[in-house]
Amino acid sequence: MRKIYIFDTSLRDGEQSPGVNLNTKEKVEIALQLEKLGVDRIEAGFPAASPGDSAAVNAVARAVKNASIIGLSRSREGDIDAVREALIGAQDPCIHLFLATSPIHRKHKLRMEKEQVLEAADRAIRYARRYFDKVEFSPEDAGRTELDFLCEVTEMAIKAGATVVNIPDTVGYLNPQEFGNIFKTLKDNVPGIEKIQLSAHCHDDLGMATANSLAAILNGADQIEGTINGIGERAGNTAIEEIAMALATRPDYFNAHTTLNLKEIAKTSRLVSKLTGMPVPGNKAIVGANAFAHESGIHQDGMLKEKTTYEIISPDVIGLKDSKLVLGKHSGRHAFREKLIDMGYELDDESVNHAFAKFKDLADRKKTVGDEDIRAMLEERLIDTPEVFALETIQVSYGNRSTPNATVVIRAADGEIREETADGNGSVDAIYNAIDKATRETVELEDYSIKSVSQGKDALGEVHVVLKQNEQSAQGRGLSTDILEASARAYLDAVNRLHDKRNTPGRRDNISLI
Ligand code: KIV
Ligand code: ZN
Repeated sequence: MRKIYIFDTSLRDGEQSPGVNLNTKEKVEIALQLEKLGVDRIEAGFPAASPGDSAAVNAVARAVKNASIIGLSRSREGDIDAVREALIGAQDPCIHLFLATSPIHRKHKLRMEKEQVLEAADRAIRYARRYFDKVEFSPEDAGRTELDFLCEVTEMAIKAGATVVNIPDTVGYLNPQEFGNIFKTLKDNVPGIEKIQLSAHCHDDLGMATANSLAAILNGADQIEGTINGIGERAGNTAIEEIAMALATRPDYFNAHTTLNLKEIAKTSRLVSKLTGMPVPGNKAIVGANAFAHESGIHQDGMLKEKTTYEIISPDVIGLKDSKLVLGKHSGRHAFREKLIDMGYELDDESVNHAFAKFKDLADRKKTVGDEDIRAMLEERLIDTPEVFALETIQVSYGNRSTPNATVVIRAADGEIREETADGNGSVDAIYNAIDKATRETVELEDYSIKSVSQGKDALGEVHVVLKQNEQSAQGRGLSTDILEASARAYLDAVNRLHDKRNTPGRRDNISLI
C-alpha cells in the first residue's frame, strides 16, 4: 500500500480561523501532540508575519524531534530569510513558498502577467534552495488556474528545485472529479514529475475538502495537507482525522495508508478544540460527540446484537474508551489514580494530588463523576496564562421582575482584594459588568457560548468567551457545575490572556498573505 504523507497546517492555516490566536506555549503544546499523533510534517506558522510568529515557529522547531517543521513564505527573499531564521534548531526544516497563479489573482491581486509569475516563483525557489534541502511550492488558487499554465508552473518549480509541489484549492471551488483530474493531468504531462511529491491542499467552502483530497489520492497525490477538526480560513481545511480514517477504513478502495497513530486522534481533537476555542460540532465526522452515538431504537437493537450493523469504526480505534468505572464522593485516591491511568493520563504524584483535590471538590457538588467530567476538569485551564485576576466569590440576585445584580470578589496579582457590584440586563451581563469594574479593564464581549460537558441536571457547564480589547482578542474558558460561575471564570480567563498578550511583544492578530 502507498504511504500518504500528512502535512498538518493547524498552526498556520488553522490559526487563520476567525478569532483564533494561539500563543507560543499553545503552539508548542499542539505541535507536541501532533508529533504523538505521528503527522509527517507540521506547518508551524508564517515567520514574516511578525516577530511573535517567528518566535513561535522557532519554539516549535526546537521542541519537535520527529516531524519535519515548515515555515510559510511568500515568494520574496525577505520572507525566505525570516523562515531560515525561524527554523534554526529544526531537525528537518522545510520552507513552503507560495505565489498565486489563477487569472483572478494575477489580474486583481498581483497585477502580474503569466511570465512575471513564472519568473518570480522561479527566482524564489532557487533562492530558497540555497538554504533548504526541502522546498515546497504552492501555486495559490491552483484550483482556478488554467490547467496548461498549471502544468507550466509545475514544470518550472521542478526545474528550479522544488521537492514538493502542492496544489491548493484555495477557495474550495472544485468538485472531486475536477480536482482529481488536475493530479492526473500533472502526472501524465509534466516532465520530471516523478522526481517530486505532489500534494493536495483543500478548503471546505462547498463541503468537499475531504472528498477532493481523497480524489487527489486516487489520482496520485503523495501528501495531504489539512488541519485537526478541519479548522481554518472561512469554512476550514480538509480534516486530517477524516482522511486518516477514510484510508484506514477502506484500504480495499484506496490502497493507501497514513502512518498516523490513530489512537491519538480523539485526544488531539480535544486539545486543538480547547486551545483554539473552536468547539467541535456534535455531528462532526470521526470526532463529534455524536459520531458514535446511536439514538434510534432500531439502531440500538442492531448494535446490541452485532456492533458492525451500524458501526464502521470502533471508537477505541481513535482513542475513545468507554470506561465503566464511575467515581463519586466516596471514591478514594487509589480508584482515582486507576481511573486516570485508564483514561491515558500520565501524571506525576504532585499532579495526581492536585487533580484529586479538584475531583473531591467536584464530587461534593455532583453525584457521579464520569470520564467527561474528569477530562474537562484536568484540561480546564488554557495553558498556564499568568493569573492576574482570580475569582474569589460571586453572588447573583435574579428575579424575572427585578433587575439582575451581581457582586464579585476578585483577587489581583499583587494580593489586593477587590469587591464590586453591578446591575445588568441579565445575570451574566451583571456579572461581567461587576468584573469590568473590579479589573478596571475595558473589554468587549465578542462571543459567548455554553455547553454541557456531561449529562444530567448536575452536569458540568463549560463556557467559552472571546473578548476584544483594542485590536487584540483573546478567548477564555470556564468550567463549573454552575453556569454563572463558569461564565465568570471564562471571562476572567480571557481578561488574563489579554494581559498576557499585552505583555508579550511582537504578537499579531491578523496576518496578510498578499
Ligand atoms: O489555501 C491556500 O492556498 C494556502 C496557501 C498558502 C498554500 O493556504
Ligand atoms: Zn489554505
